[in-house]
Amino acid sequence: MTATAVGTVDAPVDPSIMRQAMGQFASGVTVITTLDGEGNPTGCTMSAFSSLSLDPPLVLVCIGKDRSMAKWLQEGNGYVVNILAAHQADLALNFAGRAPNRFSEVSWQPGLHGMPRLDGVICHVECDLSSIADGGDHLIVIGAVAGAEVHDGDPLLYAQGKFGQMLQAKPSDGPASLPDEWLCSAPW
Ligand SMILES: Cc1cc2nc3c(=O)[nH]c(=O)nc-3n(C[C@H](O)[C@H](O)[C@H](O)COP(=O)(O)O)c2cc1C
Repeated sequence: MTATAVGTVDAPVDPSIMRQAMGQFASGVTVITTLDGEGNPTGCTMSAFSSLSLDPPLVLVCIGKDRSMAKWLQEGNGYVVNILAAHQADLALNFAGRAPNRFSEVSWQPGLHGMPRLDGVICHVECDLSSIADGGDHLIVIGAVAGAEVHDGDPLLYAQGKFGQMLQAKPSDGPASLPDEWLCSAPW
């Protein structure tokens, strides 16, 4: 097995090692959407999304302070977490890319506060803005979940700088002997 060295307290972690290390953690992929100051839809691909609390229901996203949407997340009413389906890697690239209008080829419906709910995703989580915390070069934007709608389909995955899909579970991998709460993701 090959190993890549990471930094220590004496020698701080190099950004490229940090990226490589964090890339070993697989995640889903979301497009976070909201409205800009003129009420136009705006959105950005984000994998730094997490559930946070069950009671009250809270989630969080981490957005780089230099992202164009950071201002609107701070000044707006909230955001929609659109969790992408396995076939939506192109949508992830669209909302991470340089297109002047990321919504021009995308179908969506207005949801909470008129914020965009993208069509074809496997889940919409609609949030009111709860609070914002400082996270180095990112902002931690906590949302109070006002509603969530789950749709059929497998999630798009992201790890090691690549998109992927879930492996089909074998019957023996089933959750028969596991506690009920393990069927859901965190918060436990
Ligand atoms: C799979 C994937 C996941 C990403 N996750 C995040 C994230 O969690 N937070 C973030 O700030 N940027 C993330 N990005 C980068 C932004 O989507 C990208 O920088 C985007 O262009 C920023 O928008 P802007 O150009 O309008 O500032 C991710 C990009 C990809 C492709």
